Order: sequence, then structure tokens, then C-alpha cells
Amino acid sequence: MPHLQSRSLRVYADSLEYLDQTRLPQTETWVRCSSPDEWQTAVKSLAIRGAPLIGLSAAFVLAQYAAQHPGRENEWQRVSDRLRATRPTAVNLMYCLDAMEACFSQGPAALSERATALFEEDRELCLRMAKYGADLLAEGERVLTHCNTGALATAGVGTAIGALAVAKKRGLTLHVYVNETRPLLQGGRLTAWEMADLDIPYQLIADSMAASLMAAGKVDKVMVGADRICANGDFANKVGTYMLAVVANYHQVPFYVVAPYTTVDPACATGDDIPIEQRDAAEIRGATGAFGDIVWAPENAPVWNPSFDVTPASLVTGWVLDTGVFDKAAIARGEHCR
Ligand code: MRU
Repeated sequence: MPHLQSRSLRVYADSLEYLDQTRLPQTETWVRCSSPDEWQTAVKSLAIRGAPLIGLSAAFVLAQYAAQHPGRENEWQRVSDRLRATRPTAVNLMYCLDAMEACFSQGPAALSERATALFEEDRELCLRMAKYGADLLAEGERVLTHCNTGALATAGVGTAIGALAVAKKRGLTLHVYVNETRPLLQGGRLTAWEMADLDIPYQLIADSMAASLMAAGKVDKVMVGADRICANGDFANKVGTYMLAVVANYHQVPFYVVAPYTTVDPACATGDDIPIEQRDAAEIRGATGAFGDIVWAPENAPVWNPSFDVTPASLVTGWVLDTGVFDKAAIARGEHCR
């Protein structure tokens, strides 16, 4: 029996099991992860993904490594550095590893307790921001979302999807438009699956359809998650978010970003300071998945494949954090950096 469990992670004394998100929705496959190397492979392939989940799973991997290699703090540090470098954009990974490194001197038991506390805290943060997010929604509203920000990506109900889930629990009938989220289809594969799981009515759209959907007056709000929020309110999220924000601004559709404080990086002054992960060209030339491999572009077609983009604060209506909803004026005063 795992001693901790979420929708996509099971924590045992000496290992983890993760729900392989590259294989959803076709199969629910749980895979054992017993070492930092296995974790890195899973995170690079996005089998483990989503800003909070990446950080939390790294904390457990580090705690388990320390328990298996007691008294070797230099090695723990090297492992932590390696985990940190696996994906550069989501700051939750850095937040969790900083928290773990601060406990190195207290030994393996303290590290394990710290990882557990981070996991339980994330569950609580999810609920808090989801309630604030749900307060923004009204009966019958049509909400557009991007990427996957639900239970799969966190220890709890999620961020933007968490708000939808809480609104549904309160009895609101919503209609959700799910951007499929090229190139890795976190919307088409994972959010569509979570909407069905939550029994929330939805329609899947290709990313390029969002503008005409808004032009037709069919979107009341946009809600997305974040991988890093800067001191000035600019934020990084899955590539395609910026385009959505521009289009929402043009059509005067309110645009909200939902994230825990662990996603806020006060050390990043503006979006220009956020490191953006570049990914493999094969993701754009074709697709890999439970359906097999498909290549549609000419072999060796030159590719630009940033995994995230930056949305400037000027395009955001509200930042929904675990401490409340912040408007532009509050963000300008730095109230989100605590
Ligand atoms: O590359 P991914 O799938 O890890 O990217 C995930 C996102 O961009 C999410 O929107 C973000 O991590 C918020 S998840 C609660």
C-alpha cells in the first residue's frame, strides 16, 4: 500500500509509482520509479508532468536517495543539481529542491518528512486557489482552458481545472472548451480525459480555433495555469497561452491565471528572465503516442520548439493564487510575492 497517493503519484517507502501521462487516455499504466535516473527519464518524456507534480515527485526521489545513501551529503547535492536541471521553466521544481536542500543537515528522516509536507501542502493550496477561482465563475458560463492543470498535474484537485471542479461541485453547470495544446496534446489527451472524469460538459478544439470561437461570442472566460509567475506578473505557461491571451484581450474576454505561491518567483523581475525549455524537433515533425509514431514533415525539416511562452501581465485580468485573486494594481504593488 502506498503511504501517500494522488491521481498520478503513489509514494512508497523506497520508490514511487507514477501514472504514465504519455499513455493516457488510451491506457492507465502505473510505472515504478526507483532512482533519480528513472525520474529524469520520466520527466523528460512528460510521463510525469505539470509544474507542481514535477517538483513534488523530485522531492520524494531525493528523500529516498538520501535514505539509501546515508551520510553522503555531497552526493545528495549532486543528485539535487541533476534533478534541478531536468526541466528549466517550472519554478516549482526549484522551490521543492530548495526546501529539501535546506534539510540536508538534518538527515534522511527529516527529508522524508519535508517531502510529505510539500505534498500535503500542495493538496491544500490546490483547494484554496480552486475555491477562489470557482468564485469567479457563474452558472452557465463557457470557459476556455489550455494544456492540463488538473489532478494529473498536482497533488490535489489542480489549478485552473481545480476551479472548474469546485464550481461543478457547487452545482454550477459550465461548458468547457479544451484547447488540444499542440504539440504534445495535453489538452486533447489529458484535459479531455479529466473533464469526462469530472463529468463536466466540454468540447475539444484545435488551438487555432480559439480566436473564431471568441469572435462568435462563445467564450465567457479563459482560465489557465502557470509554470512561473514573475515579480511584475508576467508568467510562463504551456506554449500557446500567450496567443490565447492576445486573442482574449482583443475580444475583451476576461483572462485568469490560476497557480499556487510555489509557482511565484520573486527573483524573476520580468518574463524576459524566465528560462524557456526547448524540446526535440521530432515533436513538431510528427507525433509519438499510444497510437504509434507518425512523421508528417519532411525529414530533417528545421524546427523551433519552445515548450512554454510568456504572457505579459498587461494581458491578464486576474491572478488567482492560494491567498486570493490579485488584480493588476495588487500585482504592481508586489502583493503576490510573499
Ligand atoms: O510541459 P507540461 O505538460 O509539464 O506543461 C504543463 C503546463 O504548462 C501547465 O499549464 C502548468 O504546469 C500548470 S499545471 C498545474
